Amino acid sequence: MKKIFSVDPWKVTEMDMHPQDNRLAESVMSIGNGHMGMRGNFEEDYSGDSLQGTYIGGVYYPDKTRVGWWKIGYPEYYAKVLNAPNFIGIRTAVDGVNVDLAQWDVENFERSLDMRRSCLQRSFTLVDNSGRRIDVAVTRFLSRSRREVGAIRYAFTPKDHRADILFTPYLDGDVYNEDANYGEQFWSHVSQSADSSTSCLTMETKKTAFVVSTAMRWSLDGADPDRTDAGEKQSYVENQVQCRAEPGQTVTLTKYAAVTTSRDWPSTETEAMAVQRVNEAYEAGWDSLFDEHCRAWKQIWTEGDVVIEGDDEAQQGVRFNILQLQHTYTGEDPRLNIGPKGFTGEKYGGSTYWDTEAYCLPFYMSTMDHSIARNLLLYRYNHLEKAIENASKLGCEGALYPMVTMNGEECHNEWEITFEEIHRNAAISYAIFNYVRYTKDKQYLADYGYEVLLETSRYWADRVSYQPRKDVYMILGVTGPNEYENNINNNWYTNTMAAWNLEYALEVRSYLRQHHPERLREIEAKRNLHEQEPEQWQVIRDKMYKPFIEEHGVFAQQDLFMDKEQLTVDQLDPDDLPLNQNWSWDRILRSVFIKQADVLQGLFFLNDRFDQQTKQRNFDFYEPRTVHESSLSPCVYSIIAGEIGRTDKAYELYLRTARLDLDNYNNDTEDGLHITSMAGSWMSIVYGFGGLRVCDDQLHLNPFKPAAWERYAFKLVFRGHLLRVEIAEGKAKVTQEGGKPVDIVFLGKTVSVPADETLEVDLH
Ligand code: BGC
Repeated sequence: MKKIFSVDPWKVTEMDMHPQDNRLAESVMSIGNGHMGMRGNFEEDYSGDSLQGTYIGGVYYPDKTRVGWWKIGYPEYYAKVLNAPNFIGIRTAVDGVNVDLAQWDVENFERSLDMRRSCLQRSFTLVDNSGRRIDVAVTRFLSRSRREVGAIRYAFTPKDHRADILFTPYLDGDVYNEDANYGEQFWSHVSQSADSSTSCLTMETKKTAFVVSTAMRWSLDGADPDRTDAGEKQSYVENQVQCRAEPGQTVTLTKYAAVTTSRDWPSTETEAMAVQRVNEAYEAGWDSLFDEHCRAWKQIWTEGDVVIEGDDEAQQGVRFNILQLQHTYTGEDPRLNIGPKGFTGEKYGGSTYWDTEAYCLPFYMSTMDHSIARNLLLYRYNHLEKAIENASKLGCEGALYPMVTMNGEECHNEWEITFEEIHRNAAISYAIFNYVRYTKDKQYLADYGYEVLLETSRYWADRVSYQPRKDVYMILGVTGPNEYENNINNNWYTNTMAAWNLEYALEVRSYLRQHHPERLREIEAKRNLHEQEPEQWQVIRDKMYKPFIEEHGVFAQQDLFMDKEQLTVDQLDPDDLPLNQNWSWDRILRSVFIKQADVLQGLFFLNDRFDQQTKQRNFDFYEPRTVHESSLSPCVYSIIAGEIGRTDKAYELYLRTARLDLDNYNNDTEDGLHITSMAGSWMSIVYGFGGLRVCDDQLHLNPFKPAAWERYAFKLVFRGHLLRVEIAEGKAKVTQEGGKPVDIVFLGKTVSVPADETLEVDLH
């Protein structure tokens, strides 16, 4: 594995240009602020290989589905993450020659992501044909405090000659998606206006009619412009700023940009708002804009940092993951969600998988205000009617949430996943349970949660098959989380979680009957629930079939799992890995090898229902058969390994998640980052090593220290308390920053943590 980024606790730096790996570096250097984001593309022209990418949260295009054999239930169109108008462009010419890093001689190139301040920096020296040098330094950020605003500082310093410099900052709406199914362009032009101060471009998405206005304004420091001009053509506006710099003199072009959309403003007002926002940014000036952005990031790190001492690679890995999660989703807008590639690439239609509920929710719930996790739940509540339509398309009652979605509609079209990976429904219900358990916001159940539980339960009650010979309910024709087996019967995880979903719906129903009887009546009347339905949920829950392998004392992945040839990963030729790049799909499906946590996912979710021996037996049986070819897998195994005392194994599995993109483990980071598994790597530390659990209405911490680390520390936001947990050799400490005293269970003992005090416990 070639490593192109240097190791530093707060920076990711690409030293020297790597034209062959430019797409990889562009993915890793992505920045975002929840409203929008972009790859680490260059501002100036670049004729080498590059994937140009600017993305705006919630602005999508319904691309016509492309499949071989059409099956009823497939979506006709599905929402695709859309490459948006480019607003970073600053074409630059020096002494009449256009700057293009693929054509010029370049020295001392560095591209670096400053994680503390969430900004992208580049510096390099251009060498012209006569050997004259110019130093260039660039900083770009997307404001965390003004979500529609971004800014770029672009500074040129000729070292040994007097240079004529022409900056051409521009906005370009003539952009494409590389992954368009039929090569169509997704934008149409609305209007543009170029002016020597503020210019604006308005484009509209085809079919979805999202109107997006992008405005820009520039300023020049270090010299007076000799000439300025403005120009436009359809879908494009530019300014020209000509100036001269003496040797050693720095001239800096600052480009301010604002992006407004009809998601937030009436479509007739987006242009005026973009102009207003960019003018406000310009008035504030670079220093104050950047300063307020840095202050917002300081706050994020204060509440959500994970510190690892003694292992800079691990430290850089986890900070990079936290940074990119924060770039992707900030939680203020319940219409948005956490795309598996975030704002870092086009791949994957839609934005929301079960990854959000299963992997991302704990991260946002524990590192930010609880309202943010609540918004993630509301997203699904708001898509409930669409999920009911989706179930009905497949001939079922109740609600089946889509496998992947942007607007509530399905964005996936492979039958074995779209129709069969139905376990996702239970993850959505589980997230409600997880949120209420963590935050104690029981009101959510009455306001929104129960409706989702009711309709998902209805779905399960319809989807199960009764087996009279055995007097059990089964779930046939499914794909579990392990996508390396399709159309199997009785996936233990799916059956167990479906039964749990029914049980939880009944429990919440009893709670509402006691505490919110009026609201319960209202919901059940709205949803047309017949009294026999909950009775039936109870019967199905009690009689759900859960396959078991007697000879090993473990849960069975699925009915026929033991009929497969029982091999383990260490018996494979290492050259065959990853299987999905070396074996035929047929061979994979017939094999025993498991793509990702499946039975183990159930042990993690329903953690306090299984004893240590059960966890141990299942771990020992399934881990050797698991190839972890989904980035979501090792974190769950790592957490269970930590729980059963296999601390070295927990650490080894953790390493597979923490630097997945920085080290390009799966050889696919060029397409974009693996955003959702980043939350899994955070969980490996906080749940795995830190032993975080919430049970019996209390926060439990049961930490251990990986041998390779000297010390680690993380923060937790828990029911209004901010706790700092630190684990060093032989000692674990918990400190509450401000707040009222809070009771927690720390290494098995209930303790009260007063405000601004530290409790210290010896680690056994
Ligand atoms: C995994 C799924 C996951 C999806 C998006 C797939 O490879 O198997 O569980 O939802 O990626 O991250």
